[in-house]
Amino acid sequence: MSVSPRPEVMISTEDIQARVAELAREIRRDYPDGLHIIAVLKGAFIFMSDLVRQIEGNVSLDFMALSSYAKGTTSSGEVRVMKDLDTTLDGKDVLIVEDIVDTGLTLTYLQEILRARGPRVLRTACLLSKPSRRKIDVAVEYVGFTIEDRFVIGYGLDYAEQYRNLPYIGVLDA
Ligand code: IMP
Repeated sequence: MSVSPRPEVMISTEDIQARVAELAREIRRDYPDGLHIIAVLKGAFIFMSDLVRQIEGNVSLDFMALSSYAKGTTSSGEVRVMKDLDTTLDGKDVLIVEDIVDTGLTLTYLQEILRARGPRVLRTACLLSKPSRRKIDVAVEYVGFTIEDRFVIGYGLDYAEQYRNLPYIGVLDA
């Protein structure tokens, strides 16, 4: 895996911003009353912060940290909760905000544990989806971009904790 200071662009900042604005409008339309967003740390922190600034009206936020990949580019299939939510989900209209669905193992696990906490609505928004890598069929109601099987970094996504600060989605395995 090459480590480059300026990885090749897969999705530009402008294209991300335009798509995030569209997703925000769709989400607000589908959540006319309450909207409680759960962002999955660390990867979703930039997507979440751009998304919420495009959503008009009331939104509340909480964060959860999961560990699925110890370090590197392949899924271990093991998921652990590193940081849990601060508030209950009982009766709330909840939207999970994730960076990327790859095998689907992490999201399936997360949806299961959150559904058990009694939200009225539970849907998921992912900036990126790699459907060709799916090991388990998981519901994602809002997908920013469907991408091929490449390892991507930037806009919150990392490789060994680097590249999260890139303002675009780049490709590392170029
Ligand atoms: P899954 O459980 O295989 O769906 O993996 C989901 C998690 O793996 C994501 O939330 C990311 O943290 C990480 N991940 C999967 N693919 C990539 C990638 O291409 N770049 C960076 N992280 C990735």
